[in-house]
Amino acid sequence: MIPIVPVDASTQPGEPATRHDISHYMRRGTLQLAALPPLSLYVHLPWCLKKCPYCDFNSHEMRAQDLPEQRYIAAVVADLEAALPLIWGRTIHSIFIGGGTPSLFSPASIDRLLGDIRARLRLEPQCEITLEANPGTFEKDRFRAYRQAGGTRLAVGVQSFNDAHLAAIGRVHDSAQALAAVEEAAQAFDTFNLDLMYALPGQTMAQLEQDVATALQFAPPHISIYHLTIEPNTYFAKFPPVIPEDDTAYAMLDRITELTGAAGLDRYEVSAYAKPGHRCKHNLNYWQFGDYLGIGAGAHSKLSFAHRVVRQVRFREPRLYMEHALAGNAVAQDADVARGDLPFEYMLNALRLRFGFGLRDFTERTGLAVTAIAAALDEAERKGLLERDFARVRPTERGFDFLSDLQALFLSNTD
Ligand SMILES: C[S@@+](CC[C@H](N)C(=O)[O-])C[C@H]1O[C@@H](n2cnc3c(N)ncnc32)[C@H](O)[C@@H]1O
Ligand code: SF4
Repeated sequence: MIPIVPVDASTQPGEPATRHDISHYMRRGTLQLAALPPLSLYVHLPWCLKKCPYCDFNSHEMRAQDLPEQRYIAAVVADLEAALPLIWGRTIHSIFIGGGTPSLFSPASIDRLLGDIRARLRLEPQCEITLEANPGTFEKDRFRAYRQAGGTRLAVGVQSFNDAHLAAIGRVHDSAQALAAVEEAAQAFDTFNLDLMYALPGQTMAQLEQDVATALQFAPPHISIYHLTIEPNTYFAKFPPVIPEDDTAYAMLDRITELTGAAGLDRYEVSAYAKPGHRCKHNLNYWQFGDYLGIGAGAHSKLSFAHRVVRQVRFREPRLYMEHALAGNAVAQDADVARGDLPFEYMLNALRLRFGFGLRDFTERTGLAVTAIAAALDEAERKGLLERDFARVRPTERGFDFLSDLQALFLSNTD
């Protein structure tokens, strides 16, 4: 999942952001960044066969045969070309093709998309290229074809292996399809991720344990496990299901960490568990406050320049996005991050990591002196929410359990 970040709306819906030439981003500003961070590329493919009742992602229902695959890829490539001056000379550290349901797109389309990206950008030699895939959208050998197209990592949206729970959360697939998809992912890719959710409607601890045990049978190198959250403006917000009590959900999370730990998966981020050497490079770059160019409908970008950090958002509605992107104007919002917002934005990401962050990294990524967060660090340490030495800061067990309280301490810090 992409970390959600606040963005100042600088334009009205439907109206492109002012198109700046490159000198706009290079002009003097309030920050002084010593170096630019690694740069990742995110590509959003915004369609799904059916909207899940809990989902607030930018995903829109579409029948597979109606997908405008070629027009959409042309729009994404036009979007990339218009953005090139902002990332001139920089190397791409990782690519993530997310959605929506990217596996609705044919392997030939993914091949074309990756070819068009490679023709325009220099990729790091070991560039991680992840594709999100849903069970129920794949036929035999499709995953192998994504591998041949250049994908190096597959993220399979399993959610659960229990038919009753899959039905309760409105998934289009059943457990047999989930099992088949994971089996094929394990065969086709050296590294892959399973997305699971817990605290599902009617789920008991024993059923959760069964889901985790089934997942672990495939020896996954990486698992992401999310607590089902009821997001505003979703079907579940209007018609809430009965979900396990908070205490049960906390106990479930402890059990997940125990079971995955015993299988050699380390909880390196709030929701992410990996075997050594299989951490997700792309998501790590978000959490370490690296840069990302997000192209595709509704995609978010964060880009650093010598004197500013900029956030952009593309048009969200796919039809509108394609029109604007093909006209060279996909950006709906474009704003500098205010100097005073940088500490909180940094902590929203970095404190999700079990191993925390280096104080030098904070300064390098935000252009701010450590004094900008000194008072908040002291308070968090006094409250037992984080521990530190002269070089590093990391959340304690308690800080990890009360993460939003810890992050909130950095809210109003300006220097
Ligand atoms: C961007 S979604 C898309 C992945 C893919 N389309 C799918 O649903 O399988 C990535 C993951 O976020 C998680 N997710 C989405 N909405 C959620 C919610 N309301 N609560 C918890 N996890 C959620 C799911 O595990 C999902 O696989
Ligand atoms: S398949 Fe994934 S992206 Fe699509 S609606 Fe369901 S949760 Fe959202």
